[in-house]
This record gives sequence, C-alpha cells and structure tokens, in this order.
Amino acid sequence: MARLTLSAFRCYAYRRFEVAPASVVLTGPNGAGKTTVLEALSLLAPGRGLRRARLDELMRVDPAGDGTGGGAWAVAAKVRTPSGDTDIGTGLEPGLAGARRERRHVRIDAQPARAHASLASILTVSWLTPEMDRLFTEGASARRRFLDRLVFALDPDHARRVSAYESAMQERSRLLRSGAPDAGWLAALEETMAAGAVAVAAARLDLAERLNAHAAAGGFFAGATLAAAGTVEDWLAADRTALAVECRLREALEQARTVDAEAGGASIGPHRSDLVVRHSGSGRPARACSTGEQKMLLIAIVLAGARLQRSERGVAPLLLLDEVAAHLDARHRDALFAEVAALGTQAWYAGTDRTVFAPLAGRAQFISLGQESPAGGIAAG
Ligand SMILES: Nc1ncnc2c1ncn2[C@@H]1O[C@H](COP(=O)(O)OP(=O)(O)OP(=O)(O)O)[C@@H](O)[C@H]1O
Ligand SMILES: [Mg+2]
Repeated sequence: MARLTLSAFRCYAYRRFEVAPASVVLTGPNGAGKTTVLEALSLLAPGRGLRRARLDELMRVDPAGDGTGGGAWAVAAKVRTPSGDTDIGTGLEPGLAGARRERRHVRIDAQPARAHASLASILTVSWLTPEMDRLFTEGASARRRFLDRLVFALDPDHARRVSAYESAMQERSRLLRSGAPDAGWLAALEETMAAGAVAVAAARLDLAERLNAHAAAGGFFAGATLAAAGTVEDWLAADRTALAVECRLREALEQARTVDAEAGGASIGPHRSDLVVRHSGSGRPARACSTGEQKMLLIAIVLAGARLQRSERGVAPLLLLDEVAAHLDARHRDALFAEVAALGTQAWYAGTDRTVFAPLAGRAQFISLGQESPAGGIAAG
C-alpha cells in the first residue's frame, strides 16, 4: 500500500495517508478512527469488510452538519504489486438510486471491475480483530466464513462455488415450500447442489491440510491444527471418490425433501459444516482453551495463512491487526513483530497504547489519529 484515501467514510470526511512499504502503526484513543482505517483497507478485498457492515452504515453521518459527508462514500488506494502500482477504488457511486446502490462499485486503474473477484488478483487482505475473539465460542457460521476466506484468498473461484451452491439451495427451499414442486426441477437443483457441495467441501479439506503444514512452521505461534468438519467433508475424507459422494448426497437430499420442506433450508450439506481448531500441543479443542490460548490460535492461523499465500502466490496478504499486540506478553509481542517482518508484507497495526509498539520504532511508520489534522493533510511519511 502506498496511498489510502477515505472520503465520507464513517468518521472521516476526507483523509489521505501516504505510506512507505514498511508496516504502519495506528494509535489513538477509543473512537479515534483506527478500526475504521483498517475496515477501509479490508474493503480493498472482495466481500463486506472486517465489520461486515451494510453499505449504508459506512456512509458518514455528519453530526456537525457541516455539509460534508452524506452522499456516497469512497475508499481509494494505490497498491504496490510485484508488477507495478495499481489504483483501486471502491464505494457507492453517487447519483445511483435504490437497488443499484446496494452493490459497492469497484474500479481498478479507473476501469469498472465487473467481478469483485478480480480484486483478489491484485492483493489479498487478512485481518484479526477483537470481534474475532468470539470465533471459537459462538456459532459455526462465522467459523465457516473464516475458513472460506482462507480458501478464497488462494482460490478466488471458491466464492462463486459457495454462492452457486447456496442459490441452488435457496431455490430448492422455495420450491419445496410451494407445496407442489416440479420433480424434474427439484432433481436438477439437487444435482447442482450435490456437485457444488462436493467442490466446496473438497476445497475446504484441501486448504486445511495445506494450512496445517504451514502452521507447524510457526515458531511461537505453531499451535493450531485445523479440520473442516461436516457430513460431506467426512464422506470425502473417508476415501470416497468425489463422484460417489455426489451420488450419496443427491440421494440424501431426495430423501430429506419432506423434512426440509417443513424445516426450511437443507438438513445436510456444507452450509452446515464447521471449522474445528485444536491446540496442537494439548489436542484440546479451541473452544476449551483459555482466552489467551484462543488468541494465540487465531494469530497462528492468520500467520500460517499468510505464509501459505506467500509460498503459493509469491506474496503474503496485507495484514490488518486490530488490538492484537496489547493482548500479548512482551515475548509473544516480539515474536509477532518478527514473524510479520519475516513475511515481508505490510501490516497495519492498530492500538490505543503506543508503548506496546515501541519495539517497532525505526521499523514501522507511526500515525496517531484523533488529533485535529487539516482535511486532506498528509498524515504520515
Ligand atoms: N457512519 C458513521 N459516520 C460517522 N461516524 C461514525 C460512523 N460509524 C462509526 N462512526 C464513529 O467513528 C468513530 C471511530 O470508530 P472506530 O471504530 O474507527 O474507532 P477506534 O479508533 O477503532 O476506537 P477503539 O479504540 O474504541 O476501538 C467512532 O466514534 C464511531 O462512533
Ligand atoms: Mg477499534
């Protein structure tokens, strides 16, 4: 990242950051706008960003009513890539109404990008936020999303695969609810679902295996073992061929029609799978680990994912680490800084306490937020 510009984005009317390739440390009091900067960076990747906000929530609400903000928000960046600088812009297009505003627009080198997946060929972004502390204790859907993001970073086609599966599933639910479904249409949808399910589950299993190899090389943060768990994943792992699993799932879906019609959705499939993480040392599931251990596991996974990407794509992702350093003791903090430096990627650290970043002095760019700075001022150098 060489430059980042936020316009009418949450608390920022306009703010530009010019940065060198070294990592960045954002500090400032609560509410200063640190996470907002990381969120803007996370929107340079496909998806809803690190807070999973709705597009209208990102629009600046201007308490002073000074006329700035409102309208359309935008995030623009100049990204350094091995093949040169690329400009990425994303936001709501001004002047669009209704449904067309529900989709965020992406421009790459000023050209509209129809598929957001094309962003993934320019850069990938990984993050760790305080909200993710609950990843192991809450429902499976956040863990599934987390796993799918890891797959997606290496295989942009995965998002299309997941959404094709999900739309066939939703269509089948609609049909089942209608009372008198067309049997041929239902069978066709179940066939699409079965093929999609096997592709999704196979990609997750494969990623978990590759990531485990890179997690083992994690030094201080070597503690995580991942497994994709679910019916389809289990069938595939039991040495069945993809085709055999597809047939079995198609039959299972056919048999579950009555149950599914009553319950809605589908009682079987990769939309119900989970990511199971264990502490490699104790073998204990992450859910049963201490808060600190869970944080280490998350760091281990994010770092392993970054190492895997570096080895397979040649570049590690941009790392967004929100309030991560503050929760580590000094030894682990130093280890984190060293691991990130070894990845050769730019990390954006955010935290309220500047002193925890002291070991990065001279190696990172420090930006303090929350103080008055002239709109458009260059905040870092
Ligand atoms: N749409 C919006 N328009 C204007 N301000 C917003 C909008 N959404 C959020 N904010 C405000 O932006 C400010 C910065 O939020 P942010 O989460 O970036 O702070 P932070 O520096 O990460 O704080 P903390 O240290 O507490 O995590 C907050 O005061 C928040 O209420
Ligand atoms: Mg924050």
